[in-house]
Amino acid sequence: MSAVALVVAAGRGERLGSSGPKAFVMCGGRPMLEWSIDALRAVPEVEHVVVALPPGIEAPAGTSGVVGGSERSHSVRAALHHTLAGDPVLVHDAARPLLTPEIVRACLAGLDADADAAIAAARVTDTIKEGDGATPASVARTLDRDRLWAVQTPQVFRRDVLERALAQPHDVLAAATDDASLVEAMGGTVRLVECPRENLKVTTLVDLHVAEALLAARRP
Ligand code: CTP
Ligand code: MG
Repeated sequence: MSAVALVVAAGRGERLGSSGPKAFVMCGGRPMLEWSIDALRAVPEVEHVVVALPPGIEAPAGTSGVVGGSERSHSVRAALHHTLAGDPVLVHDAARPLLTPEIVRACLAGLDADADAAIAAARVTDTIKEGDGATPASVARTLDRDRLWAVQTPQVFRRDVLERALAQPHDVLAAATDDASLVEAMGGTVRLVECPRENLKVTTLVDLHVAEALLAARRP
């Protein structure tokens, strides 16, 4: 297997409220992005790492850089177009610094012969209710928690499947919060790979504090 990894790091991090792009915010003593790069580079099946970056920022050592797009999916597409080879394609958010080589390997292994994609996900521990959309909101229904998964990255795709998914119009891509949903909408089979909840996404300051604590606890 010779996989290629695309790391999207071109977001502004508005919800975190940092002064610079979120992927370069210090987390556990280094720019957040570097944790993910290390985990990916520790897996020999991953031959190449491409990073989608904000304009004017250099790619980290051992990776190729490309300027990202206006929405997340556009950054994924820019990074994919930068690679000529590599199948499957693994997509990862720089905003998930708790990535481990084990998670990378599990997601690559999850792409079985009948699957189009395999995505990291954790079982939901909260009870999830759907609101009715009104203000104030009332409960429309309670979802069956046993079947709910909180989706993460990495998401691993057959290259041709991801190419087709990302070839859709600009507004279809802009509306997608992950790449697997584009594949699902095309009728593709997406496997869920059970991963630890610790592989969290840093969105707000509270997530940054939790990520810092988890990274600190890793040190021997
Ligand atoms: N991302 C990207 N290009 C964009 C938007 C997002 O590469 N145009 C990346 C982010 O850098 C992040 C990942 O996609 O690693 C997940 O996005 P999110 O957590 O929403 O990050 P931001 O868009 O940076 O944050 P916010 O939405 O709060 O501005
Ligand atoms: Mg965003």
